[in-house]
Amino acid sequence: MNRLGILISGRGSNFEAIADSIAAGELDAEIAIVISNNPNAEGLRRAQQRGLRADCVRSRAMEREAYDRLVVEKLRAERVDLVCLAGFMRLLSAYFVGEFPQRILNIHPSLLPAFPGLEAQLQALEHGVKHSGCTVHFVDEKLDAGPIIAQATVPVLDSDDEGALAARILREEHRIYTEAIRSVLSGKYRIDGRRVLPTP
Ligand code: GRF
Repeated sequence: MNRLGILISGRGSNFEAIADSIAAGELDAEIAIVISNNPNAEGLRRAQQRGLRADCVRSRAMEREAYDRLVVEKLRAERVDLVCLAGFMRLLSAYFVGEFPQRILNIHPSLLPAFPGLEAQLQALEHGVKHSGCTVHFVDEKLDAGPIIAQATVPVLDSDDEGALAARILREEHRIYTEAIRSVLSGKYRIDGRRVLPTP
């Protein structure tokens, strides 16, 4: 069984969507551990309620690689083979990325490479784009970079505020994260430069 390690910092709705997909038999995997860098993360409480292994590894005042070593140690102890960042508000060190080569995914609420970083939905709104969406990609040391596995598009309506747009995008996030995990776990892809291409 594929063992997922999920890293969160807050609400955890993407984590819950993954957990729901597993419970519904839509994803052949199990959640080995949920780790939050923020002790107050709502997602941490939700993980505990679901009876999952849920740990907080506080990041405050810690040097990046020292922190990542603690997290990697926990992931290794739980024999995690795929790491899913789900609203984890930290860049990973080269050490972390090197420990799980092409086995770390992230979800971002824009059509990358547009609007990386914080408040992607607000960036999209203020830029005046007519469509935005979300992206699941492999993680490297750079911010919201790495080869793209899946994207979904949503319209930006004239009446939108940040909340309305974020909610529309979030529904798609919950859908495509499971799809992207399934596709990576199937192993039926190859990475050609920046392109993730299906293989038979
Ligand atoms: C999502 O919009 C995700 O794309 C971004 O952070 C947000 C996390 O939301 N990286 P949640 O914690 O999964 O509800």
